[in-house]
Amino acid sequence: MKGESRDLIIGMLGEEALERLHAGSALPNVAYTSREWLKLERTRLMWSMWMLAGFESQIPETGDCLPVRVAGCPIVLVRGHDGGVAAFHNVCRHRGAVIVTECRRRLGALTCPYHSWSYGLDGRIRTRPHFHGGGRHDTEPDHRASLAGVRCESWRGMLFVNIDGRAGPLDRHMAPVDAHLAGWRHTTLAWGGSLVFDIAANWKHVHENFIDVYHKFAIHPALCAFAPLETSNPMIFIAPHLAMTWHVIACPEEGRGVGLPRFRGLPDTLHREGRSFTVIPTCNINLWPDHIAVLVAEPEAPGRTRETIHFLFDPDAMAEACDTVRGRVFETWDALNLEDIGVLESMQRGRVSPGFDGGSLSSFWDPATHMFSSKVVELMMSGNGSVA
Ligand code: FES
Ligand SMILES: [Fe+2]
Repeated sequence: MKGESRDLIIGMLGEEALERLHAGSALPNVAYTSREWLKLERTRLMWSMWMLAGFESQIPETGDCLPVRVAGCPIVLVRGHDGGVAAFHNVCRHRGAVIVTECRRRLGALTCPYHSWSYGLDGRIRTRPHFHGGGRHDTEPDHRASLAGVRCESWRGMLFVNIDGRAGPLDRHMAPVDAHLAGWRHTTLAWGGSLVFDIAANWKHVHENFIDVYHKFAIHPALCAFAPLETSNPMIFIAPHLAMTWHVIACPEEGRGVGLPRFRGLPDTLHREGRSFTVIPTCNINLWPDHIAVLVAEPEAPGRTRETIHFLFDPDAMAEACDTVRGRVFETWDALNLEDIGVLESMQRGRVSPGFDGGSLSSFWDPATHMFSSKVVELMMSGNGSVA
């Protein structure tokens, strides 16, 4: 299997591109433009790793359901009778219709809109109306028609799923991040909403931009004035699947560090520094003293990505009195992200050019970009993206 995967990946990228990658370049054009390559990324990389799906505070009560899409798969997160969250493939076992199409509160059952098969909050099939003919309902259906479960675990209230079910425990996966949070043990994080962007660029351009600290002097003048390049640090890898950077919050402003109640129990270091963690393959977690922005790049097609930025706050910051400043956080990130989109889309256009071969990278700023490219290939070649 491993040898087959290796041959397949080499066949798609080409020997020369792999040599350039080993010599310090990034991925070749085909990795940004090919449908076949994206299919491999989904099945061999994303389905085998922990992927962010949602947040505990989005579904606080029994029967709350949140449909999401992760690496192309419709999945539904459900708060069950036992108080825990379970994940299921959000496709009906009858004819494959998507069952839950919007966030719902306190449902007693999940009912498919097509022929009304219904499932319990534990995913078990309950009834199949008119299954044996008009008026002849199946009230004791074969349990093999129950929803297919997806492995789901929670880290600090963030819900991750592992589609192939073979990854190591999530806590172990995220332990290197815990080690860089200066002993912070928060109570509850409140999900405060999200921003969604439709970007005409490959998901890796979006994700690599999370890693790229270098560009901010050229693209983000306001951010650079707030945190100059001279006091910023390149991303460094803290585990095979995790990278981080940090910056000193010298002059906090509304939307960037002041005006909202800060997270409870935050150690002194995290009052003074912002931290950003990249969780390969598609997630980036930005910690500020008063909010966390979680960025996710969901591939729609080789040249199209849906980027979502979720915002988490201390529960005290969800008070009405904080609405205006919370709004400033959204505005700040919205403006920042809009500044990036033009250049992300231009890189996608550039990826059809024979004049680009993976790039010539800065040895100071770009090692994380190179590492990301290498890790994508390495994990895909292994035929099993599990890193824990
Ligand atoms: S597809 Fe769901 S009940 Fe028929
Ligand atoms: Fe940017």
